[in-house]
Amino acid sequence: MSLNVGLLRETFARVKTENGGATALGMSFYKRLFEKYPAVIPLFHTPPEEQHKKLIASLGAIVGGVEQPERLLPYLHAMGIRHLKYKTETAHYGAVAENLLAVLAEHLGKEGEWTSEMQETWSAAIAVVAKTMIEAADNPLAYKDELTQMGYEPDGFRKNDSQPWVEKPVVAK
Ligand code: HEM
Repeated sequence: MSLNVGLLRETFARVKTENGGATALGMSFYKRLFEKYPAVIPLFHTPPEEQHKKLIASLGAIVGGVEQPERLLPYLHAMGIRHLKYKTETAHYGAVAENLLAVLAEHLGKEGEWTSEMQETWSAAIAVVAKTMIEAADNPLAYKDELTQMGYEPDGFRKNDSQPWVEKPVVAK
């Protein structure tokens, strides 16, 4: 699959400036998710005001890292494995993907354009992210060595680091 990286980056930059910026998008994401998929509400313990900042930061790391799979893949594997602790199930990924695409379309379609090419690019990117996270969550042990090399614990968290969603280069020992 060839992803239109330029379009992905341009649209993500627009998220931050248009229609109330990333906070508005992030808040709409959780509002719509909880309205449309109330079954996932009990999984969340962090208020949307805080949670949305983590989601936006991780989307930024993903969009920034698409051309560095050697860093992005372990980042996504670790994130998928961490989601086991949050009781996320494979079936939830479809809901989150549908919801993210819908709020992106609404957010960006208000002040500027949201084209079918943008829709396809984001849909493809989110599908790869979900597939990569799910693969790791399905078989965490297979990723133990990779995670250790990249500075993660086998459960996808990092020691003495309360912000595992922030992508960090590994410092060579
Ligand atoms: C596109 C895929 C996803 C991305 C990029 C994403 C991103 C994140 C990030 C950055 C965090 C912060 C904690 C951490 O990094 O460990 C998080 C936590 C969480 N995510 Fe996701 N996530 C995704 C899919 C899902 C799905 C499918 C669900 C299922 C409903 C889900 C439910 C949760 C829950 C319950 C938490 C913990 C909330 C809390 O602290 O109360 N996520 N997610």
